[in-house]
Amino acid sequence: MDGRESERLPADLRRVLLGEEEIRRRVEELAARIDADCPESAGPLLVVGVLKGAFIFTADLARRLRRRHVVDFIAVSSYEGGQTSGNVRLMMDTRQNMEGRHVLVVEDILDSGCTLDFLVRSFRQRNPLSVRTAVLLDKPARHVLPLKVDYLGFSIPDVWVVGYGLDYDEQYRTLPFIAEMRPPEGG
Ligand code: IMP
Ligand code: MG
Repeated sequence: MDGRESERLPADLRRVLLGEEEIRRRVEELAARIDADCPESAGPLLVVGVLKGAFIFTADLARRLRRRHVVDFIAVSSYEGGQTSGNVRLMMDTRQNMEGRHVLVVEDILDSGCTLDFLVRSFRQRNPLSVRTAVLLDKPARHVLPLKVDYLGFSIPDVWVVGYGLDYDEQYRTLPFIAEMRPPEGG
């Protein structure tokens, strides 16, 4: 943790879990692994960021890739405030066709696993060459579905985190680091 980052924390954030520099280094490592695993001859990699939470991770990861790629986004919704609404809804589909392409789904965080499971299953029906997953954060304690993540950033405890794209009720997405929220009073 970076001392200076903690000093300027808003009162409802408890602590910095992952500092800017730590995130940057890990994203760089993941990009290098993706480059190594996916040969150029396979054509441009289709990088699909899951909005909104993964918008910053997707931008940083894609800018670290050396191999050819195109970036697209998909939007899903399953949470309101800090509460899961259970079912995953597709709010906006990709524009790019997945047929005959290697696809990399880029997600912010794996909680129950429902969102990623829904996306991987629906992408596989679109005749891609392959579907792989890059996930910045994982809360192993919360999985309800067994899922294989190909490129994982960090495993974290079962706490609500914000920053680097992640929100609480749309707040704190643009913090450059990832911080743990204080649970609400009496809640
Ligand atoms: P899952 O479908 O339960 O795996 O939830 C995944 C989605 O829930 C993520 O894409 C996030 O948008 C959201 N989410 C889960 N945990 C957190 C958190 O700690 N902070 C912010 N968003 C979260
Ligand atoms: Mg969210």
